[in-house]
Formats: sequence, structure tokens, C-alpha cells
Amino acid sequence: MKKDFLTLRDLCADELNAILKRASEFKAGKDANACPLIGKSIGLLFEKASTRTRISFQVGIYQLGAQAIYLNPNEIQIGRGETIEDTAKVLSRYLHGIIIRTFGHKIIEDFAKNAAIPVINGLTDLHHPCQALADLMTINEKKGRLKGVHMVYVGDGNNVANSLIEAASVTGMHLFIACPEGYEPDSRIYKKAVSEGAYVKILRKPEEAVKDADVLYTDVWVSMGQEEGAEKKKKAFRAYQINKKLLSLASPDAIVMHCLPAHRGEEITDDVIDSPKSVVFDQAENRLHAQKALLETLIR
Ligand code: CP
Ligand code: NVA
Repeated sequence: MKKDFLTLRDLCADELNAILKRASEFKAGKDANACPLIGKSIGLLFEKASTRTRISFQVGIYQLGAQAIYLNPNEIQIGRGETIEDTAKVLSRYLHGIIIRTFGHKIIEDFAKNAAIPVINGLTDLHHPCQALADLMTINEKKGRLKGVHMVYVGDGNNVANSLIEAASVTGMHLFIACPEGYEPDSRIYKKAVSEGAYVKILRKPEEAVKDADVLYTDVWVSMGQEEGAEKKKKAFRAYQINKKLLSLASPDAIVMHCLPAHRGEEITDDVIDSPKSVVFDQAENRLHAQKALLETLIR
């Protein structure tokens, strides 16, 4: 049976650990010339902009021996009203897997229900699981463990935050989210994680949240497709910037993460994102390795 990756929860702890191990092997150059996906074709259907996700998948697919086919929604019939269901059924006859970046999470769920091939979530308004996969790989590399690592996410309760909650749930990482009232992560995702015993807490004051943090994480205050009311939102987030002062309150060996792209001077300052504590470019590189391991696991 085909397996999708729509949210981080689609992987159990054992599957996640196996993927992270395989990702490290790829990064170390093991099987550099192996082509486990030779002869396969994998689609990339992106309804929003992307630098990291699109390019890391295209490069990774090539390195695994398959071909990547970029599908601009305005150049295929979906842009002229062909249904998601019909598109999923047709593309399943040609492709061996597909990565989709879209708006509502239901769109990718509907696609997956109608597709006979693995569907990978390259970001929806609700989840960004491929990012979380690379984040976990990065934390493991830098801290040598995931369970009990004290991560503080300062910022909007968005798709990245939601996937980090699920990541905390699957790995036992401790996650503190500091956000203004009204900008919390998805309540269903949060409640499910907490009901399962995940260590996830929502706080208001970033200064309190970052105390003893091993990892400080942030993302843009205004996500793609959510530009309406951006100015009001930016005001609400003024006190939620990762800057030198906030960083000084974290553990002395804390690392700083950001999924990128960053809005420098808003959610993070230049002196922090460019400091030796910042691992943002390793994090971006790990998208490639982690997604190769994911593709090798899901696509047969
Ligand atoms: N972090 C991330 O998903 O970046 P892109 O939007 O550039 O793909
Ligand atoms: N939360 C951001 C992540 C971008 C990679 C967005 O959805 O725009």
C-alpha cells in the first residue's frame, strides 16, 4: 500500500529514526552513486513560491536516479479548473510520487485520497513536515539527541510551529512556544499532542520561555498567502524578535534555527542569524539529505 507524508505524524518513531539515520548516511556520502529510484518520475506541484523545498527536492530526486517534473499550476489544467480528484488520478498513471505545496491542508488530503502514488507535503497552511524532518536531523547533529532537548519557538503559531509540535510528540523533545494571544498554533494539533503526553507549552513572554533553551527557533510573522492584516500582526509580534538580548537569556551553548526565508530585522536580527550560534544554513542543507531519505523510503 502506498504511504503518504502529509504530516510528521505519518511517521512513527521507528520510521522517523530510520529516516534520520539514512539522511545522515547520505550526508556522509554513503551510497553517493547508488540510484535507488532509477527510471522513476516524481512530480512537484507548487502553488506557492519556494527556494529550498523545490530545489532540494529536484536535486535530491536527480541524485537518487529519478527525474523531477516541475508542474506549474498555471501551465497544467488544474489552473483552468480541472478537479484535484481527476488530476490526482491522471498523474498517478504517469508518476511514481508527487510533492505538493499548496494552501488549505484539505487540498493535499483530497489529492492523496485520490492518488495511487505517495504524496509528500511540501508545505500547506497547516503543516510543513519536510521542514520538521530536516530540523530534527539538524538538532540531532548539533545536540546529539532529540528526547528532552529544550526547544523554544518564538513567533507565529503557523505551519512550521504545528509541525514542530508533532515533532515534539514523536521524539520527546520539549517544546515551548512563545506567541502573542490570538496567534497560537492550531488548537487540535496542540491538544492532540498534549493529550498523548507530549511536552508542549504555550507561553506569552519570550524572556521567560527562552530560559535554559538548547534551541531557539523562529519563522516569519506573516506566512505566504496570509498577507491580509500583516501590519497589525507585525505590531502584535514586536516583542517576539530573536535578538542578542533574548539569546543571552538562553543556555550558553544554545543554537538558533530558522526555516528561512528570514525577514531580517523583524523576527530575527542580523547579528543573531549571522552569529556562530546560528545553524540556519546547515538546517537548509539538511532539507536535501532528509528528503532523499524520505523519498527512498516512500517511493517504490
Ligand atoms: N523553508 C522552506 O520551506 O523554504 P522555501 O519556501 O524556500 O521552500
Ligand atoms: N511559515 C512560512 C514558512 C515558509 C517556508 C510560510 O508558510 O510562508
